[in-house]
Amino acid sequence: MEKKNIDWGNIGFGYIQTDYRYVSYFKDGKWDDGQLTEDPNIVLNECAGVLQYAQTIFEGLKAYTTSDGRIVVFRPDLNAERMIQSAERLKIPVFPKERFLDAVQKVVRANAAYVPPYGSGATLYVRPYSFGCNPVIGVKPADEYQFRILTTPVGPYFKGGAKPITIRVSDFDRAAPHGTGHIKAGLNYAMSLFAIVDAHEQGYDENMYLDAATRTKVEETGGANFLFVTKDNKVVTPKSNSILPSITRRSLIQVAREYLGLEAEEREITLEEVKDFAECGLCGTAAVISPVGKIVDHGKEICFPAGMEKMGPVTQKLYDTLTGIQMGTIKAPEGWIVEIA
Ligand code: PLP
Ligand code: COI
Repeated sequence: MEKKNIDWGNIGFGYIQTDYRYVSYFKDGKWDDGQLTEDPNIVLNECAGVLQYAQTIFEGLKAYTTSDGRIVVFRPDLNAERMIQSAERLKIPVFPKERFLDAVQKVVRANAAYVPPYGSGATLYVRPYSFGCNPVIGVKPADEYQFRILTTPVGPYFKGGAKPITIRVSDFDRAAPHGTGHIKAGLNYAMSLFAIVDAHEQGYDENMYLDAATRTKVEETGGANFLFVTKDNKVVTPKSNSILPSITRRSLIQVAREYLGLEAEEREITLEEVKDFAECGLCGTAAVISPVGKIVDHGKEICFPAGMEKMGPVTQKLYDTLTGIQMGTIKAPEGWIVEIA
């Protein structure tokens, strides 16, 4: 199979249209058989539930070319499971796990020419999503839905790739206690847009959100979980009911323990103690692990020892091991790597 003529090493995290996408329609209480389509456009009624009341959820995973030329995806079963939790919370009918996994296989296989080559630094981002599509004017769930998967080749989420970024402590909250912070609903991202544009205008790459109830505990950023390393090389990540349970973060905790022999702990982390950590990174499918060099809390700077030029040593080891597992140069734990057949 011939790859598309794309300058893989120089693409950012943007949308590049690929040849195929997957779609299944939910009508009269059931999902249809689903199919691939070449049409990237969606025609919706003006009163569709997604347009009026934001009834939409999504997922994100990546397809990689391994060092021996296979195409694989990373832990798609966990994306399927998380999407079920998101669907249940927004009253969207569940798209069954086995069908989700089959649809990922179909859409990645059909777009194999867009899966960036091994070593290019790019990957194929796979975006499953589901939304209410029939007219809804009273506030209630739609009756008809679509489940879709689009794919797009992507480079690094933050410009500069592995260079440390600067973030600020946000005055805006991302998620309420008992709200929707733990699911992947479009509404969580819509309400973060004001804060991210403002952060960029002030010269920051991202926002650190605090817990909305007390504004003393570290939650996450708009699109990634935090990971910290203590001065004695222990990996710690924030525990909260209102952050997204990141698949990357959960994987990195296991990598830290089982591959690097480090202690790793998920616990509440206060903003006050952040200055005592040796390293900080953002972890997620899009972010992989993006090192944070500096956090600014209303003029007060917290600078991590590794500085603004390179990742800290533990972050680097975590990054190398995780990406080695994903690209097939390091043996993966059972079930983590799924080959596109
Ligand atoms: N937190 C938020 C708000 C996200 O949007 C994402 C991206 O999916 C993550 C964390 C990281 O999750 P994952 O590692 O499963 O991609
Ligand atoms: C992902 O990492 O897959 C996400 O969905 C984050 C998003 C903000 C791009």
